[in-house]
Amino acid sequence: MLELKAVNLKRAKVDTLVVPVCEDREIHTGKTLKSLSAAAKALAEFKGKKGDVLTLFQPAETCINRVLFFGLGNAESLSGETFRAFAGRAVKFCIDAGLPTMTIATPSVADLKIDAETIFRTLMEGVGLGNHIFDRYKQDKEKKPVKTVVLMATAAQKKTYSGLAESVAVVCGASVMAREWVTMPSNDKRPEVFAEMIRKAVQSTGLKIRVMDDRWLEKQQFGAMLAVGQGSNAKPRLVTVEYAPRGAKKTVVLVGKGVTFDSGGINLKPSGSIETMKMDMSGAAAVAGTMLAMARLKPSVKVVGVMPLVENMPSGAAIRPGDIIRSYEGKTIEIGNTDAEGRLILIDAMAWAIKQYKPDTMIDLATLTGACVVALGEKIAGVFSKDPELADAIVASGKKTFERCWQLPLPEDYKELLKNEFADLNNISSGRWGGAITAALFLSEFVGDTRWAHIDIAGPAWAKKASDYCGAGGTGFGVRLLCDLIETL
Ligand code: BES
Ligand code: MN
Ligand code: ZN
Repeated sequence: MLELKAVNLKRAKVDTLVVPVCEDREIHTGKTLKSLSAAAKALAEFKGKKGDVLTLFQPAETCINRVLFFGLGNAESLSGETFRAFAGRAVKFCIDAGLPTMTIATPSVADLKIDAETIFRTLMEGVGLGNHIFDRYKQDKEKKPVKTVVLMATAAQKKTYSGLAESVAVVCGASVMAREWVTMPSNDKRPEVFAEMIRKAVQSTGLKIRVMDDRWLEKQQFGAMLAVGQGSNAKPRLVTVEYAPRGAKKTVVLVGKGVTFDSGGINLKPSGSIETMKMDMSGAAAVAGTMLAMARLKPSVKVVGVMPLVENMPSGAAIRPGDIIRSYEGKTIEIGNTDAEGRLILIDAMAWAIKQYKPDTMIDLATLTGACVVALGEKIAGVFSKDPELADAIVASGKKTFERCWQLPLPEDYKELLKNEFADLNNISSGRWGGAITAALFLSEFVGDTRWAHIDIAGPAWAKKASDYCGAGGTGFGVRLLCDLIETL
């Protein structure tokens, strides 16, 4: 789909050329590109400001059919995200216009603030992520993804960055897969079915997958996870996917919350909160997507994805507030609220994974709390870890990928809020505030001294509106973050 290619714009036949333009300076070096952007900027309606768009047809002395100019603003303000957003907007423009091919003029001046590798990588990401259309439930699929994207490059750049193009394509493909799963409605991804979809996705990748059913979970005494699932007539599943390269010295376990629908249970969610709860398996989708990418990126560490899948429903068989359950790890928990279900499935999956894999590092991703969205808004994830290096590495990967993360604290004294009269713990806090923190502290009670981080993705996992390189719905948040992070662990 994406290729790096040297293109001679004086002679080559190009259907759609896409040119990014800065407001205050030239960012291209080729003669044709320089005169094209000068011609565009000479027009009143295009100044290269952020958001400016202009189309010119059949410019003189070329064989180019149309040129799309996109303003990027001042060169000083350029970042990787500028190029992701630009490339995403450009593919979307072509999709909307029904253009099957496009050629992107890569900025080539040497003295930009950003290095060439970042420019190439983020342009590729914008293309790979922006070229996705969720239309599997539409009868007429009016829009088609762009078929071929050419990224202009010198022969030397082609050599240097063609490996990068492959790995970016892998990661974006995995991210798009996660989006599809998240946006898919709950009636088509109940635990058993979602488990089979993951199985289908990983088959012929060389990854080892296991799907454990409810009878296995009962035998193993996954008391907390089973308690959440008991209100639904769709039985829970535990899915594990292993990437185990020969000679691996370290093991990383990724755990993803997989609530295929969160009704709240007996503490039923009200209108306004319940409608998008098909997205409550975004953690599991991100983990499954990351595992798919691992098979192709082949990092040197062992990586295991663990995905507890349940549906949280109210029924005559559902858990009640006040019920006391026994978790896999052994601690008993009083159910203060049946809507605090994510932490219950995570603690069983994490305690089991620690015993099973003895990981050097464990990271869980979960759409865990509305409180985290209150704290950080809809675009930034919360990170919790007692290991400052791990937290810093996650925040750094968040910067690089623009899957932004912000560390929040795990104060020991707040554990007080989880105390219970009758059981070892309550599944909700006795206080009103700091819900993202108390949820993370609850999890921390079940990880022993394993090096662990929790990422609350309740905000960024879902987008109400489309943005530059992501449609409305599931965002695939976490896949790019984890793929980048694992390289650093
Ligand atoms: N899945 C929700 C959290 C959520 C909220 C995700 C908004 C995405 C967007 C989670 O299971 C939940 O219901 N959390 C409760 C916890 C409370 C009962 C302690 C919440 O945040 O209200
Ligand atoms: Mn809930
Ligand atoms: Zn939930």
